[in-house]
Formats: sequence, C-alpha cells, structure tokens
Amino acid sequence: MKATDPCVLVIFGASGDLTYRKLIPSIYDLFCQGLLPDCFAVVGVGRSGYNDASFREKVMPGVEEFANKKASLPEKLANFASLLYYCQLDTSNEAEYIKLSEKLKQVDGDCHTGGNYLYYLATPPKLYSIVPFHLAAHGLNKSGSGWKRLIVEKPFGYDLETAKALNRKLLEVFDEHQLYRIDHYLGKETVQNLLVTRFANGIFEPLWNRNYINHIEITSAESVSVGDRGGYYDSSGALRDMVQNHLMQLLGMVAMEPPTVIEANAIRNEVLKVFQSLRPLTPEAVAQNVIRGQYMASRVRGETHKGYRQEKGVPEDSRTETYVAMKFFIDNWRWGGVPFYLRTGKSLPTRVTEVVVHFKETPHKLFAQPGVVSRENQLIIRIQPNEGILMKFDVKMPGQGFVTKQVNMDFHYEELTDAYVPSAYERLLLDAMLGDSTLFARGDAVEAAWEYVMPILDGWKNDPNIPVHGYPAGTWGPESADKLIGNSADTWRYPCKNLADDGEYCLL
Ligand code: BG6
Repeated sequence: MKATDPCVLVIFGASGDLTYRKLIPSIYDLFCQGLLPDCFAVVGVGRSGYNDASFREKVMPGVEEFANKKASLPEKLANFASLLYYCQLDTSNEAEYIKLSEKLKQVDGDCHTGGNYLYYLATPPKLYSIVPFHLAAHGLNKSGSGWKRLIVEKPFGYDLETAKALNRKLLEVFDEHQLYRIDHYLGKETVQNLLVTRFANGIFEPLWNRNYINHIEITSAESVSVGDRGGYYDSSGALRDMVQNHLMQLLGMVAMEPPTVIEANAIRNEVLKVFQSLRPLTPEAVAQNVIRGQYMASRVRGETHKGYRQEKGVPEDSRTETYVAMKFFIDNWRWGGVPFYLRTGKSLPTRVTEVVVHFKETPHKLFAQPGVVSRENQLIIRIQPNEGILMKFDVKMPGQGFVTKQVNMDFHYEELTDAYVPSAYERLLLDAMLGDSTLFARGDAVEAAWEYVMPILDGWKNDPNIPVHGYPAGTWGPESADKLIGNSADTWRYPCKNLADDGEYCLL
C-alpha cells in the first residue's frame, strides 16, 4: 500500500553503515515501486561535514550495490537522489537543532510535507535518550502541525534496567503510539508468514499444541564471523545481539495464541503473553540448560578460520559468547511440558534461520523394523535462505511387506515467481510511514524479553563455574549443546542451504 501522507524521513546517524547499506537502498526500492508519498524527502543528520550534494554522492553507490531494484534507469537514480538532503549538526548539542528546524523548513518549501516527520535513530545507542530530548526542546516532537514518529534501532537497552530507563525517557517526550522499536526480523516476509501458516490453515492449528507436538527447535545460524564488528560485539555477545530481540520475537510468532484481529495491539498483546508465560530461569536451569560457546581458530573443509579472540577489537582473554543454545519451557495451557530449543551463533557451517516443529510419534508403531530408528513427522519453516516450508512424513516403500521411508513435501517461495519479496527494512519503513506499528516491538514486550534473559546474564557474570565452551569455527557449536536435546533418538536438525536437505555432508 502506498504511503499517502507527505513526510520527511529524518535519519540520525546518516553517515553510518546502516544508512548506507539498508535504509537508503530500502527507500529507493520503495521509490521504484511508487510506494513513497507524492511529497517525500530524506534529511540525513550527522556530525560529518557533508552538504546535500556530497551526501547524495556518498550514499548513491550504496543504492546501486544494495537495493533490490537494481536495473534502474540513470534518470530514476537522479530523481531519487534529488529527494536526499543533509543537515550537519552535533547531535549531542541541543542548541544545534535549530539547524534541523531550518533545514526542515527549507525542505518543506521544496515540497509541502505538512510537518509529518519520521525520525530514525541509527546512531550509537547512547544517543537514543539524548536526541529525542533535543528534538523536544525545539518543539520537533509535537504533533499538531503534522504527525511525529520515532523509530528506535536495536539494541534497545543493555539489560532490563537500561531498557526500562530508556522506555521511561522516551515516554517523557513521545507517546507510545509515536514509538516504533524496530526489530528487522519482524519485517521478514517469512516471519509474518508464520501467522498465515498457523491461522489461515485448518490443518496446522489444531495440532499446534502439547497434545501433538513433542518439541520445537529454533535455529538461527550464521556462517560469517564477527569480522570487523569486534568492538561492538564484545560488549554484546550472542544473547544480547540475537536472542533477546530477534529470536524472542520469532518465538512470539511461533507460540502465540490467535489474536482476535490482525491489528497492532491484538498481535502485540499475544506476543507479550508468550514472554510472560516463559518459565523463569533459575540459576540451576541457567547452568544446565543454557550453553554458551565461542568460536576458535580452525581448519575445516580445507578452509582456515580465525578464532574470535583473534578478531579486531576483541580482547585476548574475552569470554563473550558467539554461540548460545538453550532449552526452555512456556508454562501455559497450549505449551505445558513441551520443550523448546533455541540456538544461534557466528562462524557456524551455514547461514540458516528456521523453525522445526517435531510432532509426537504415533501411539503404536505398527511398522517398526528391528534396527531402524523411526523419525517423527517434522514441519520445517525456513525463514532464510531458500525460504519455504517442508513437511517430513512416512510413505511405504514399493514392494513386499511394509517398509517405510521418510519423504519430503516442500514449498519454496521462489515458486511464487510473480511475487516481489520486499526486504525487511523496506517493509518496516513503509509501515512506519503508514502509521502501522504491528511489526514493531512494544515497550512492555521489550522489557518482558529482557526480564526473561536477565538470569542468564547474571549467571554468566556471577558464576565462574559456567564454562564458555570453545568450538572450532565452521562447525555446529559446542558438543554440550547436543546433550540439551539428546535423551532419545532426537538431535538438532543440521540444516543445509537447501531447505529439503539436512545432514553432515550436504551443500552448505
Ligand atoms: C543483527 C545483528 O541485528 O542481525 C547481527 O546485530 C546479525 O550480528 C544480524 O548478523 C542478522 O540478521 P539477518 O537478517 O542477516 O539474519
């Protein structure tokens, strides 16, 4: 749906990587599809000494490299570039925001945006509670002459206390309905499709509970290492970087009750209830059911990989986790007793995010064969890459007797050849322009997610007996993570690049 309200997108942190690689290219993709309002502009804000022309020169190569709609005409690129402005100011200095007021007036003069301003905090997190106050000091937060909305990037807080403090601060100058806490996982088409898979199909939802499901796995693996982000990553770690936000939101979609309507608050209420139903982690549960790991230098499949402690910006004795695996429970009517398993890490064999629903076995094994381990039915929802859905079930092998074999039935998004799949940032920026906060995290849910992970952070900080397991870079993480699941024939699924494959020797 096209955004109809004229508006200005004001990006703080305009000279940063996020702006270059994601925000401006996504806006360009919206532009190419005619989804931006007729009157629209971007004002980049930052300390670096650009003007409108040099800012355009800086960011346009990013459009050519990272936008989806690459095959564009030169005049299209030029038309898009003319929508970009720059305002140089020191974001931490309140007095300088007068320059932003003036710039916005100038932009308004070029095209009447009606005072509708969408602010985007793509700055270092310490500015998240400063910029909004300086905007307020200049009246730039006030609705009345047009709407004002504020998108806040992750990380939202460093722990529960700082997340609460940030929420309190933001609410002093913006109302909750003006705040858009971004979690780009919620912008992924395949994450949203979880709602459709579950609630638009009569065949799945009746089985989606403790009566039919044995356990659920959520894996988000990355083959990349920390690379040159060591400085940031070492004070974050996988739990803060991936689990508290992206994976908890994904869990919310997998485990929530049906909302009464598809509307922001109805959906966000259900997600919050999932977080509130998580069984609190005791110190014993942290020690037994949460595994942390760190990748070590290795030579795997003929390739040499650096260890985490050799990365730029990482101390030689760092204990920061680059891998987390955990087992946990949701204590509610639907999920009572069903174990959930979650794992994420850097420098794993392949990049894959997926949800694996393991169904219970049939009550009686009519076709059991000596020495053959029967596998339960699985529904695999692939978030990325090779997006799709795979069902694993048994068939009879042709021939005498009843020899069974597990086979695949799969759907791949790429089969929808006429459908364009927007990037997560594209979708979320458009939603914010439309005033739709459904796919943004609400303050109470962010706090509930922090509340849940706090015992892990505390345990890791205070209990020296909880090890950081080393794992060779390029492998599936510490062996102790296997023991979290393995009291039966079950193991983690070891996914491959292609949705339908798994196992040790597949294409990674
Ligand atoms: C970011 C994390 O939020 O998400 C990164 O900071 C991580 O460390 C990235 O690589 C993963 O996102 P995606 O969309 O590539 O799965």
